[in-house]
Amino acid sequence: MSVRGIGVDICRVERIAASLERFGDRMRRRLFTPDELAYCERHKDPLPHLAARFAAKEAASKALGTGMSGGVGWTQIEVLQPGGRVPELRLTGVALERFQAIGADRSHLTLSHDGGLAVACVVLEGQDR
Ligand SMILES: CC(C)(COP(=O)(O)OP(=O)(O)OC[C@H]1O[C@@H](n2cnc3c(N)ncnc32)[C@H](O)[C@@H]1OP(=O)(O)O)[C@@H](O)C(=O)NCCC(=O)NCCS
Repeated sequence: MSVRGIGVDICRVERIAASLERFGDRMRRRLFTPDELAYCERHKDPLPHLAARFAAKEAASKALGTGMSGGVGWTQIEVLQPGGRVPELRLTGVALERFQAIGADRSHLTLSHDGGLAVACVVLEGQDR
C-alpha cells in the first residue's frame, strides 16, 4: 500500500456554534448528514462533535487535494462512528470520484476535541503502483 493523500484541519468549536446559531437548520443540513447529526445530538453537548466532523470534512478535502471546491460537497464526506470504535469516512459523489481518481482505496481518520478546539487528520492509501 502507498499513501495517496494526507490532510489535517483544526476548527474552533465556537465558530461552528456561531454558524449554526446564525443559519440554523439549513446550515446543519448543508454541512452534516442525518447520521452525523443523530450521532452528535446523542451527546450532552453536540458542538465539539460537530466541530470535529467539520474538521474531518476539511481534512479529507485536503487529502483529496481539492479542498471544498470543484463539486466536492460537505455531505459527500461523511464521518461514520461505529459505537466506541475508530471513526471512518464514507465518500460519495464527486468526493468519491476524486478518491478513486487518485488511486486510493482505503482511508484512515482520527479526531480529537478539547479546550474549544477540534482537530482531524486523514490519510488515504492505495495499492502500490
Ligand atoms: C482547503 C480548505 C479546506 C482549507 O481550509 P481552511 O480552513 O481555509 O484553511 P487551513 O488553515 O485549515 O488550511 C490551510 C492550508 O491548506 C492547504 N491547502 C489549501 N488548498 C489545498 C488543497 N486543495 N489540497 C490540500 N491542501 C490544501 C494549504 O497548505 C494551506 O496552507 P497555506 O495557506 O499556508 O498555504 C479550504 O480551501 C476550503 O475549501 N474551505 C472551505 C471554506 C468554507 O466553505 N467555509 C464555509 C463553512 S460553512
